Amino acid sequence: MQIARSPASPIGVFDSGVGGLSVLRHIRAQLPNEDLLYFADSGHAPYGDKTEQYVVDRALAVTEYLLTQGAKALVVACNTATVAAIKAVRARYPELPVVGVEPGLKPAAAASRNGKVGVLATARTLKGEKFLQLREQISAATRAEFLLQPAVGLVDEIEKGDLEAPQIGAMLERYVAPLLDQGADTLVLGCTHYPFVRDGIERVLREHERTDVTLIDTGDAVARQLGRLLEAGGLLQSADGDQATLKGCTSGEVAALTRAFASLLGLSTPVEKIAV
Ligand code: DGL
Repeated sequence: MQIARSPASPIGVFDSGVGGLSVLRHIRAQLPNEDLLYFADSGHAPYGDKTEQYVVDRALAVTEYLLTQGAKALVVACNTATVAAIKAVRARYPELPVVGVEPGLKPAAAASRNGKVGVLATARTLKGEKFLQLREQISAATRAEFLLQPAVGLVDEIEKGDLEAPQIGAMLERYVAPLLDQGADTLVLGCTHYPFVRDGIERVLREHERTDVTLIDTGDAVARQLGRLLEAGGLLQSADGDQATLKGCTSGEVAALTRAFASLLGLSTPVEKIAV
């Protein structure tokens, strides 16, 4: 597979569904000249309750599709896919600049005052070897204690699109409260879907009179890392007077991704159904 080496080529961004849009908004803000192609693998979401091999196979299939569309770089805008599959993607495409998203344990340990950090993520992320190694490494370096909380079912509810649904509020209470009870003063949003329910998490913090708790989201850092990689590879698109393009593709429902672009990012974006 030939990998595009031109600054004018698009960047491929993918997630199991709409969660990666929380990363995409930072990429658009920081790299406004870049053409972007977003792939929501909603026909196969959530990844968090699948086997590691399933997620690896999906990541490779979606990456291959994005490369056929001329992608010059890839953002794995999904913690679950990064933990399970980024190694396999890099091994198959060693020439491709790839940026992943991992739960922000390092910034969380730095932000925490009492060394107790709650980590909300999918069950697959929290079981992944890459995540466990990261936890080991950051615990050893900082002495922070990481309290792991799989948020089972939350991605499914967010994918349905109603972020104010009572089921989401109930899940957030169920998953966040035990972390507060254990003394966490910092919470890592370890799944790219979760920034979209930040208001609901903040509501739980208010109800527990814990507005001192810091929330950690790494979308901004991921976009910065992407900018550095593109610059190092001579792949940054400069302002050429043309409006940068954004296209969506999904293995699920076109209407659902179209709605998500509008409701989550305020964008009217063309979306195509792709079976890979
Ligand atoms: N947004 C994905 C993540 O960051 C969600 C994974 C899933 O589909 O369960 O982990």
